[in-house]
Amino acid sequence: MVNKIKPCVTAVVGSYWGDCGKARIAGFEGSDAVLSLRTQGGNNAGHTVYYNGDKIPLHLVPGGIIYPQATAIICHGVVVDPKVLLEEIKLLSKYVDITPTKLIISDRAHIIMPYHIDLDKLQEEKRGANKIGTTNRGIGPCYQDQAGRIGLRFQDLFRQKEDLQNKIKLILKFHSNELETIGIKYTVEEIYDYCIDIREKLKVWIGNPDNLIAKTLQEGGKIVIEGAQADHLDILSGDYPNCTSSQCNPSGVLSAAGIGPLYAKKVIAVMKAYCSRVGNGPFPTELSGKEGDIIREFGHEYGTTTGRPRRCGWLDLVAFSPLRGYSDICLNHLDTIGLIGKELGHIKICTSYKYQGNETKIFPSNMEVTKEIPIPNYHIFEGGWEIPKNCKTFEELPKKAKEYIEFIENYTGVPVTYIGVGPNNEDTIVR
Ligand code: IMO
Ligand code: MG
Repeated sequence: MVNKIKPCVTAVVGSYWGDCGKARIAGFEGSDAVLSLRTQGGNNAGHTVYYNGDKIPLHLVPGGIIYPQATAIICHGVVVDPKVLLEEIKLLSKYVDITPTKLIISDRAHIIMPYHIDLDKLQEEKRGANKIGTTNRGIGPCYQDQAGRIGLRFQDLFRQKEDLQNKIKLILKFHSNELETIGIKYTVEEIYDYCIDIREKLKVWIGNPDNLIAKTLQEGGKIVIEGAQADHLDILSGDYPNCTSSQCNPSGVLSAAGIGPLYAKKVIAVMKAYCSRVGNGPFPTELSGKEGDIIREFGHEYGTTTGRPRRCGWLDLVAFSPLRGYSDICLNHLDTIGLIGKELGHIKICTSYKYQGNETKIFPSNMEVTKEIPIPNYHIFEGGWEIPKNCKTFEELPKKAKEYIEFIENYTGVPVTYIGVGPNNEDTIVR
């Protein structure tokens, strides 16, 4: 008998440089999902969920875990710092009973080890003026070990003692010399002890989630993938080398769970009504001076993971990739941009660039080589708006705000289905 594929996966992904409010929409979509998945990245992500008014900052566990019907899975594409995960489980336990059926950590997920964090700092120092501005969480070095096929995965923790020690010896052969240059030395014994400690603390949640995922896909049960980072930070299609080390574009977040593309039902591009970026790399609409400061202050643009002030600028529709196949847009901070417009007297949206002497509507792929940042051409909206209290529908939005949204839809061809009009989850308009 042949089995017809039922598309049932909703992927929530960032379409620019992250920090766009993915958790809000992941939570909204997760409220009736059977499975909530994190598939890539690690605790470089910062996602805030709310439970009965309490703010729960999460970095690893998918926020959908707070819903009674959902199982949360940390899939094999995620790199996991066990200490951070344990803290998160402790925090979440105040709200949810984290049983072994409530949370599953893939036994193939790679472990961020203490030496990865040292190496992250060391590599940033070595880059000198070409620093990426990483989150210093060991993300890059852990994925390097994965690609180099010397990574330590959760299943390795269950090896026989000698076997695990041999694996650790092999890993140290690759890293010891480099670590010694900054006076850091790890012994096989201390790493082995660390492994056993985390195995004992996490073992009830470690397993192979593939059967459960396969069964849910077969039944057409709703699966939500909570993407981390965002399109421009993707290691393959993003702003290399100023990106993260995982694939965070729509196909990447599916692939990182081993889920094939035909299962995708919805791909939601999450963005703000302006742009922000942390760390280095090209940002054509970045504003220095007063305008940038106003966006930062009005939008509270300071990192949840690192506390760093974010670089801020106007919404850039050229940087919104037409290749990804988004089904919907979730536009956050529509209230904020309206107030910014009132303060500054205008709002701008970038619609093309001047780059290498030509006008283009494609985000350049070779800025690292040309060392040229495109000059944005803007569509200008006069004034701003204030969202009326208890605004629940698109129709109730101020005329100028509706025009702003329709402009984005006409340019991208993607419907703006979700609109964030305030800081709380309830302040979301769904069309
Ligand atoms: P969420 O999921 C914004 C950025 C870092 C740095 C680059 C590489 O909260 O949107 P890494 O530590 O990953 O090697 O750093 O990527 N970066 C993020 N920026 N939001 C994130 O996640 C990010 N995760 C990584 O600032 O420039
Ligand atoms: Mg972030």
